[in-house]
Amino acid sequence: MTKTVNGFSRLSKQQKIEWLTENFADNPADARYVFSQWQHPDGAVQAVIDGFTENAVSNYVLPYSIAPNFLINGRMYAVPMVIEESSVVAAASSAAKFWLDRGGFHAEVCGTEKLGQVHFRWAGDPAMLHGLFPELRAALLSGCDDLTVNMRQRGGGILDIVLLDFTMLESGYFQLRASFETCDSMGANFINTVLERFAATLENFFTEYPGLSDAERDVEVVMSILSNYTPGCRVRAWVETPIASFEELARSQGMDAAQLAERFALAVRIAEIDPHRATTHNKGIFNGIDAVVLATGNDFRAVEACGHTYACRDGQYRSLSRCTVEDGIFRFELEIPLALGTVGGLTNLHPLAKRSLDLLGNPSAGELMCIIATVGLAQNFAAVRSLITTGIQQGHMKMHLTNILNHLGATPEEAAAAQYHFQNQTVSFSAVRAFLDGQRKELAAVK
Ligand code: MEV
Repeated sequence: MTKTVNGFSRLSKQQKIEWLTENFADNPADARYVFSQWQHPDGAVQAVIDGFTENAVSNYVLPYSIAPNFLINGRMYAVPMVIEESSVVAAASSAAKFWLDRGGFHAEVCGTEKLGQVHFRWAGDPAMLHGLFPELRAALLSGCDDLTVNMRQRGGGILDIVLLDFTMLESGYFQLRASFETCDSMGANFINTVLERFAATLENFFTEYPGLSDAERDVEVVMSILSNYTPGCRVRAWVETPIASFEELARSQGMDAAQLAERFALAVRIAEIDPHRATTHNKGIFNGIDAVVLATGNDFRAVEACGHTYACRDGQYRSLSRCTVEDGIFRFELEIPLALGTVGGLTNLHPLAKRSLDLLGNPSAGELMCIIATVGLAQNFAAVRSLITTGIQQGHMKMHLTNILNHLGATPEEAAAAQYHFQNQTVSFSAVRAFLDGQRKELAAVK
């Protein structure tokens, strides 16, 4: 056995596990058992899962949770969330309940435009290229008629193509920037296929255009790929209430409603001012967003990358949410680009993603944007509410206690005793271990 391998992808799954565990696992037999155990019992389903990526040897399990009571634009949702971090689902559920009694959440799609780019080099006169562009544009569009026909029938397709001149920054560098409507699909494959066709059309156009010099015929396509920065595919979610409705919560924290609302707004303002706080603040938003993006089989890396770029669109990284307290009205709002699909990709292939969409009433991509932005807002609301009142550790550690107890192999009786004991005690790994050790010693002494 050797730690390098040729043709790993061609080995059967069993052979892959064999090679991997023999060469890299501390305890090969144990590792083999674990990898083999996490397979779907239905071979056909497992084959679909294995087909998502290359070299799969096992399935990686995360909890699939539900945050109920989300009232969004007058409709009730029980939202599926896939996340490993304790307290996130509890926080989302608690925020959903809080706003359920205050008119719920509101959300609207601001736009659905996606973008793609062909980056190329051309050594001729930029003014000449601009002059040729109307003709080139027509060739680019007609050259991919066959690729766009289905999307056009669904109401989408190519919206526009513009020529951008970056020669002042990089000699000879131009870009075709195309905008797309991809309806209910995220559209990555559609966009990339069209862009690669654009690239071929671009090369042909210059090769065949009459009267060009050799240098002018020479166009070099550097790359053709969608842009994950889609500020034109954006959604806004918000909540609004008279500050008086914070009375009960405020009183429990020794504040009045106005103080609580103002402190909340200040906490959000701090995340607009300071990038260090903004990063954590936005991380809290993505706790909610990513969890639903994952549960619905969407691309959380694309969503995160885009969201963070949007958060620094004016040159400084800032909070994605905003809060105002004006004329006695508290308004909390999140505006974020979200490129999502409810058809195609994993959405219909992954057995649980399909189930998630079903639970959400098989939403359109726009409706899913509204749901996911709302969960991001709710998550942010819950985090900031905790931070400016009790602090987050109280709730977090309660959930964390369960993980520590599981880790330490606590019996149900020990776990119940620990839950009771730590009601008013600070939870830490060592404190829980000391508590369990004490319990076990006591029990041993009695025996
Ligand atoms: C923890 O995962 C997320 C928070 O840190 C977010 C925040 O600070 O706003 C609680």
